Amino acid sequence: ITIEWDSEAAEKGGYPHFVLKEIYEQPQALRRALAGRIREGRLHLSELESIQGLLAGIQRIVIVACGTSYHAGLLAKYVIEQWARIPVEAITAAEFRYCDPIVGPETLCIAVTQSGETADTLVGIRQARERGAPVIAITNVVASAITRLSDAVLYLQAGPEIGVVATKTFVTSVAVLYLLGLYLGQQQGRITSEQMREFVTALERLPEQIEHILTQASGPEDQIAPLAKRMSQVSSMMFIGRGVGFPTALEGALKLKEISYIHAEGFPAGELKHGSIALLDPDTPLFGIATASHVYEKVVSNIQEVRARDARVMVIATEGDEKIRQHAHDVLYVPATLEAFSPLLAIIPLQLFAYHAAVARGCNVDQPRNLAKSVTVE
Ligand code: AGP
Repeated sequence: ITIEWDSEAAEKGGYPHFVLKEIYEQPQALRRALAGRIREGRLHLSELESIQGLLAGIQRIVIVACGTSYHAGLLAKYVIEQWARIPVEAITAAEFRYCDPIVGPETLCIAVTQSGETADTLVGIRQARERGAPVIAITNVVASAITRLSDAVLYLQAGPEIGVVATKTFVTSVAVLYLLGLYLGQQQGRITSEQMREFVTALERLPEQIEHILTQASGPEDQIAPLAKRMSQVSSMMFIGRGVGFPTALEGALKLKEISYIHAEGFPAGELKHGSIALLDPDTPLFGIATASHVYEKVVSNIQEVRARDARVMVIATEGDEKIRQHAHDVLYVPATLEAFSPLLAIIPLQLFAYHAAVARGCNVDQPRNLAKSVTVE
């Protein structure tokens, strides 16, 4: 007997592409990232024990990263400032390394790089170290170059990511940065044990909530693939959000452009009227991130401005929000969670949308043109 054996197909585990497999692996990846770090409702970051002294003196945080990792850093800025009341700057590594950065022993530098090998991030972090800044690396690759430049390492535990576009490493980067934010908030005495219990409970529910989104997306009621197919021939799309919805919009736009080659831009929703709204017309659809938040009503009013320009509006909203239907042509629902954690759910339909649009356009989704998994040159 001859058995046909295709090792690549076997590695894809029945999925047509690595990217789709990795999108579906996110609940497991997230469980692994949280495992051991949350036990019996409490936070344990044993990786930081040896640098507790360094962390006690910090007055400022700078997050250095590129691309999707930078978007994870931008999200962390919102939540760390809120939880620890420490000023945070998130900056792209290619800018940081050339801006003669003002960092020293009182500035914690956090490098976020799934590959651990991104040249700009490595150079920027080397400079920060030379100036005496404590460094924490957040990476997926054990013993990668960034780990040798850092005082402590928090591994993503996402498992191998073969697709060039970051999916499960984004979700786990955000989760690990959030754990670090909670740790710092606790250390600063800003988070009560009751609040911590609430955060931990919400975090622990996320994997099953992502599973819920993915299960719906693979069932007969799926809206995402047909919508992406319908939108796959547009030449440009916009994504808007406020607060943590803003980096979510940036990441949704990056996923779409890098995998489908559709031009896409993410904006803070309130910035739209300061120029970019001029781009809107009936052929330029827009995704609004309108999950439950303290700025929900503001996002809705921005969406109404967009509707008034006859643009097609698609919205990511929280389950149970029926009111949003009157403002959008299409609504993709995600389960309810705390506002800070909403990007971890809102990004899932956006990843799937980008994937299905790219497949409909016949793109090479696992290996998009001009891109590499680790960017080791400047
Ligand atoms: C993500 O989908 C991209 N392929 C890219 O933006 C990536 O996030 C960036 O190059 C940073 O990579 P790193 O996390 O390995 O440093």
